[in-house]
Amino acid sequence: MLGCRQALIISIKDEHREGRAVDIEALANQYSSKTPEDILRLALESFDNVAISFSGAEDVVLVDMASRIQPDVRVFSLDTGRLHPETYRFLDRVRERYPIRFEALSPDAMAVERLVREKGLFSFYQDGHQECCGIRKVGPLRRRLQSLDAWVTGQRKDQSLATRATIAVVERDAAFSTPEHALVKFNPLANWTAAEVWDYIRSNDVPYNELHERGFVSIGCEPCTRAILPYQQEREGRWWWEDAADKECGLHKANVAVRRR
Ligand code: ADX
Ligand code: SF4
Repeated sequence: MLGCRQALIISIKDEHREGRAVDIEALANQYSSKTPEDILRLALESFDNVAISFSGAEDVVLVDMASRIQPDVRVFSLDTGRLHPETYRFLDRVRERYPIRFEALSPDAMAVERLVREKGLFSFYQDGHQECCGIRKVGPLRRRLQSLDAWVTGQRKDQSLATRATIAVVERDAAFSTPEHALVKFNPLANWTAAEVWDYIRSNDVPYNELHERGFVSIGCEPCTRAILPYQQEREGRWWWEDAADKECGLHKANVAVRRR
């Protein structure tokens, strides 16, 4: 006899194959208090075309968990060309440690050249980060997501009251789905705290970015990230010259859309 989980996975696969909409809200309710491992297992077993979007502490926890479920899990990183050297070393350590299928995605060279020619290398300090993030992060992500049916992120609710407090453990990706292509987004760590992430990293001897030893908490590109002081909100070191409510680079654009509704 099939267990509940296996029956659910088969029905998701069937719905997907037949082009019927998977009832994501029901799934989110059903999985809202499950463990990150359970949510990750659901993502990896229900979708053949699924990948983990990897950059930081949360994501390496997901990679560690996923590699116990599906060792050759697909993992991609958006290499903006502006990451810290420490981050590049960290990405490579993770690549060497786990038998994952890792890819680093580069931005469109002509679009980067045009931006730099017209506005220089630090235009984001003058007119905001959206244009540069659009070219260096969102463009390559959109391209990658076109060939996926689901992706997994390390977003957590307590990373930002302004933009992440209501994310679900599984949601329809309102920002990157198209009428022809429904995309599902899993956030297995949505309900975890930073303390739980770091407990996991220490207890499982998981690699981490050495910048964390120097006061960096949430880490993005080098010119747009700085260390924070004790008790500052963890995303205060990102795009610090901008308003907290605008601190989404476009990868998770739907978070901002929901907040503004
Ligand atoms: S961001 O939108 O502000 O940059 P954040 O750094 O909090 O996002 O990360 C949230 C999640 O977005 C990560 O857990 C990861 O899944 C994904 N992500 C962020 N930056 C990257 C990147 N450079 N490459 C791949 N995934 C990323
Ligand atoms: Fe550009 Fe900064 Fe966005 Fe990186 S975080 S893509 S450098 S604006």
